[in-house]
Amino acid sequence: MRALQLYEGAMSGDQPSYLKLRYTIENLTKNPSAQIVRYGHARPGILSMAQGEGEAPTPDFIIQGALKALQEGKTFYTPVLGIPELRQEIANYYVREYGFSLPTDRIFVTASGTTAIHLVLTALLDPGDEVVAVTPIWKNLLGATELQQASIKEVALSCDQDGIWSLDLQKLFDACTSKTKILLITTPSNPTGWTMAREEMKQVLDFARANDLWIVSDEVYGRLVYDGSRAPSFLDVAAPEDRLFTINSFSKAWAMTGWRLGWIVGPAEAESAIYDIALYDNMCPPSFTQYGAIEALRHGEAFLKEQITLWDNNRSVLKKRFDQMDRIRSAIPPATFYTLFQVDGEPDCLALARRLIDEVGLCLAPGCSFGKIGRGSLRLCFAVSEAKLNDALDRLESAIG
Ligand SMILES: Cc1ncc(COP(=O)(O)O)c(C=O)c1O
Repeated sequence: MRALQLYEGAMSGDQPSYLKLRYTIENLTKNPSAQIVRYGHARPGILSMAQGEGEAPTPDFIIQGALKALQEGKTFYTPVLGIPELRQEIANYYVREYGFSLPTDRIFVTASGTTAIHLVLTALLDPGDEVVAVTPIWKNLLGATELQQASIKEVALSCDQDGIWSLDLQKLFDACTSKTKILLITTPSNPTGWTMAREEMKQVLDFARANDLWIVSDEVYGRLVYDGSRAPSFLDVAAPEDRLFTINSFSKAWAMTGWRLGWIVGPAEAESAIYDIALYDNMCPPSFTQYGAIEALRHGEAFLKEQITLWDNNRSVLKKRFDQMDRIRSAIPPATFYTLFQVDGEPDCLALARRLIDEVGLCLAPGCSFGKIGRGSLRLCFAVSEAKLNDALDRLESAIG
């Protein structure tokens, strides 16, 4: 009974009407993943692989950078778009790891990737505007769009028989109307790992230029790739004046989810708009964490490589184990630390996610969190030890037979 209420609450607004909240808030769609995590979290022995973070703590050299800043009294407000040293360090990082240079007035430090998304969508969307989003996609991007009272049109990736995801660009272009303001793309994608090729980016950029559209490209998983050292970025193909915002974060590559720090790259002309919104939003990113972030960029490559090696090994474990489970359909992702999979005969992913919690104490994210195309799937985050991954797969196997 409790589970049924959870399911209904997950899918529609459930605020008591006497509060008289904004219509948009009363009707905000819920995030089924968050609901499932809440459903499972207090259970004894629960194994949660539903959230988007690794189990490694932030490395010590980053912590020391923040500690030093605290001890030196760096506990005050900072400039609204981040301390100049960090903006410069991000510019250095792009030269070193991406091979291009950006002026610091195009780099805006934010209090998380999530905040970066919020600032960018606030800058671009009026009520009634349309966002064309490539799905499956991280639910918060859709929720942040709803908050702006904009509408969302989903363009689904296709998944072939081998579980390989791809985007039909013509489908994306055909979905755009005169109301469309933004093409919203996550590459590499959470939850599929699908990664847009550089050549595709060029075509999307040409289309956006010709149709006066913005591209918002969430690239927070850009370094979590298993072939090469980074994924293509829209910044590889765009000119400085293009209507492009890229979103980034310290959370994933440097194990800093709790630090709440991210950044945007946008046109220099948009700096003052993002400044104004950030000022009214939360004044500035946290101070001492920015000093930790400088250390992450300066010295974080070895740590990132170690993590990628661990996760790459987990990809092989997943492949081997999934191959032995007849009912599982999935492919090993080329990027990120997620796998999105289906279980034959289990079309209701929320029901299955609840059953896994109830029967084997395993918490996975239901695919319906990621747009319509995700329905019927489950997402597992494999940024854990091999032993923990095997424990999760044992539980899954015993539940689905
Ligand atoms: C695609 C995507 N963008 C942004 C974020 C948010 O990152 P942050 O922790 O910096 O808010 C996430 C987190 O899971 C994500 O999956």
